[in-house]
Amino acid sequence: MTGLSDSFQRPIDYLRISVTDRCNLRCVYCMPAEGINLLRHEDILSYEEIYQVAAAAAELGIKKVRITGGEPLVRIGLSRLVQMLAKIDTIDDIALTTNGTLLAKYAEELKTAGLRRVNISLDTFEADKFKQITRGGNLDDVLAGIEAASAAGLNPIKINVVAMAGINDDELLDFARKTVENSWHVRFIEHMPFNREMAASSFVSINELRERLAVLGELEPCTFKGNGPAKYYRLPQANGTIGFITPISDHFCFHCNRLRLTADGKLRPCLLSERETDLRQPLRNGISAEELKKLIKKAVDSKPRQHKLARGCVPQDRPFSQVGG
Ligand code: 5AD
Ligand code: SF4
Repeated sequence: MTGLSDSFQRPIDYLRISVTDRCNLRCVYCMPAEGINLLRHEDILSYEEIYQVAAAAAELGIKKVRITGGEPLVRIGLSRLVQMLAKIDTIDDIALTTNGTLLAKYAEELKTAGLRRVNISLDTFEADKFKQITRGGNLDDVLAGIEAASAAGLNPIKINVVAMAGINDDELLDFARKTVENSWHVRFIEHMPFNREMAASSFVSINELRERLAVLGELEPCTFKGNGPAKYYRLPQANGTIGFITPISDHFCFHCNRLRLTADGKLRPCLLSERETDLRQPLRNGISAEELKKLIKKAVDSKPRQHKLARGCVPQDRPFSQVGG
């Protein structure tokens, strides 16, 4: 096995698997208030089909998978998928990105099934604000989810914070303090303009945030095991780290190592490009593992060099929640 790389010689070893486009929240930066046109159940890949794709991808060189949504834990029996993926020898890391609301219920069984770690989205510590941002969610559910994940040993726990000017940037320091007090790994993400009106008014650059954090002490650059684009720092006395993810002000496409599988079975080599390769129909037509690998390679070959977010180009074909973040 020689590993997988794209036409720009980037090694591709990371697959994000969206298991559903459904979500029990409606975050303002992710979904329109009225929700989205949902995929039909029969259009969504079964766990067996997802396994087939992951196994073929692993033979090609994929080593890490992350399960995403929508909200992955609204899909029934997710631990069964984790268990199946954990049986693929060459996959050495299985992680989950979740809004945390259902984690208190599932953390233990996910860990037993073979899940290594979780990223939890949390943008505020204020219950009312949480309700507004998520259009109805309950903050306590997420806090309980974070506790349960920690108790179950789903470590390290990373918290994803979408930084929004005038909405949650006043809580920046509270999040940063959690890296000291609770050993959380907190990652601030620049808001990507899927909802254009909102993004224009609420964009805050990560550089600006970093400057504001200086009151807590010097941010020491550090390396922290992650598969992604975050740059990590540590405050004095912190066990946890502060990460910055800057899709807009400093795009990281040159180091991108990922592929995405949508819930309806399209392989998407870039979050921010409409290029897709359909795997569902071939899977349902009984494609062989060898042919499946060829299709995966074809998708990898079509991976674009970089996105065009800074020029305001946003894919229009699918809502963000269908591509899995
Ligand atoms: N900009 C930045 N991050 C986003 N997420 C969802 N929508 C956006 C956006 N418009 C993040 C969520 C979650 C992950 C799935 O993607 O915070 O952590
Ligand atoms: Fe759901 Fe996550 Fe989108 Fe919020 S960001 S609506 S939790 S999929």
